[in-house]
Amino acid sequence: MEASEHSNAATGARPPLRLAIAGIGLVGQRHADAIAQVADTTLCAVVDPSDAGKAAAERLGVPWFDDLREMILAQAPDGVILSTPTKLHVDQGAACLEAGIPVLIEKPLADDLHAARTLVERAEQARVALLVGHHRRHNPLIRKAHEHIRGGTIGTVRAVQATCWFYKPDAYFDGAPWRKQIGAGPISVNLVHDIDLLRHLCGEIVSVQAQAAPSLRGYENEDVAAALLRFDNGAIGTITVSDSIVAPWSWEMTAHEYPIYPATSQSAYQIGGSLGSLSVPDLTIWSHNERRDWWTPISATSVTRDTSDPLINQMAHFAAVIRGDEAPLVSGREGLRSLAVVDAIQKSAKSNALVHLEKADRDRTWGGKSTSQSTKTNETKAKTAE
Ligand SMILES: NC(=O)c1ccc[n+]([C@@H]2O[C@H](COP(=O)([O-])OP(=O)(O)OC[C@H]3O[C@@H](n4cnc5c(N)ncnc54)[C@H](O)[C@@H]3O)[C@@H](O)[C@H]2O)c1
Repeated sequence: MEASEHSNAATGARPPLRLAIAGIGLVGQRHADAIAQVADTTLCAVVDPSDAGKAAAERLGVPWFDDLREMILAQAPDGVILSTPTKLHVDQGAACLEAGIPVLIEKPLADDLHAARTLVERAEQARVALLVGHHRRHNPLIRKAHEHIRGGTIGTVRAVQATCWFYKPDAYFDGAPWRKQIGAGPISVNLVHDIDLLRHLCGEIVSVQAQAAPSLRGYENEDVAAALLRFDNGAIGTITVSDSIVAPWSWEMTAHEYPIYPATSQSAYQIGGSLGSLSVPDLTIWSHNERRDWWTPISATSVTRDTSDPLINQMAHFAAVIRGDEAPLVSGREGLRSLAVVDAIQKSAKSNALVHLEKADRDRTWGGKSTSQSTKTNETKAKTAE
């Protein structure tokens, strides 16, 4: 199956890409909203066996299916967004690849590292686009932070600390019981976002040492965890996550990305360099006024940026990848590398041991372009645009 790529002979316009969503729950609905905002894309089907899924398809005015493979046979969509419970990602991702259909898989890529690796290798061999929904990388503020760090504004990055603390109410777990089960704790579901951003901003993580504590609410996962990270450039990081702490310090409550989270003026990450420090997402750069010296006044500069919606940007990017206009910003290989770090954090928390990451999961190729080349392409675009 191929993307609808024939131009309308009279106008030169291309027909809209027909995208299907599997899993129209919390984040699936946001993807439907994003498709409605992206030019030249249209939602063609919803796959979700629940009554709520059927009702959502009716509300959205598209055919409803209770099985992904049946939908693929009937609709032959140009692309699929998988926003189903994590344990279904590998099997459903494979169904899309078998049909040659580009797929955007929500994070985390999978609940099993080995199966995720097999899936990514399959996509690379078949040369079918597999993207992972680390949508924060599509936030303009992350592009700005990346530009400043890579451009040397704060010098050599030496340390980073990241906080991911919030309180998820009981109803969040009761409404979707898979969230209480193994593989759906805050390390997998939430920390993977932050790990992905730290890798993107600060470099590859080569080893981790972690601790975790079991859920006080009796769920199968941890409800708090902390990890010490070592990056390949020698920088050191600390990161903590909890879904059971009342606090303002998380990406969700500081990035102003999604109105359901009350916004605060705090930040979630502090990235420290030899020339200055950067806090994210508020994008404040701290440096001494005259010379690098702790007895010299230090001042803050706010970086300006635009505030477009990263989920919409991600959908526009997925469409561009399907059309062959862009290489994936967060490829399957990139999602795999972030998953590998999360997996290492879980192993280290269980064993109390330092866990080294394998180099094997990075620097592979997709569609003839390496993942690092893909990132460079996007950096260049960001610079030109701003
Ligand atoms: N990018 C983000 O910020 C973000 C935010 C939330 C969730 N997520 C990820 O998205 C995924 C879904 O999370 P959620 O919170 O939206 O879950 P959810 O429980 O709200 O929604 C999942 C939906 O999938 C449906 N479903 C179950 N089995 C299915 C099947 N076989 N085929 C099709 N649909 C099926 C369910 O009925 C439900 O409607 C998870 O992997 C999660 O980690 C990402």
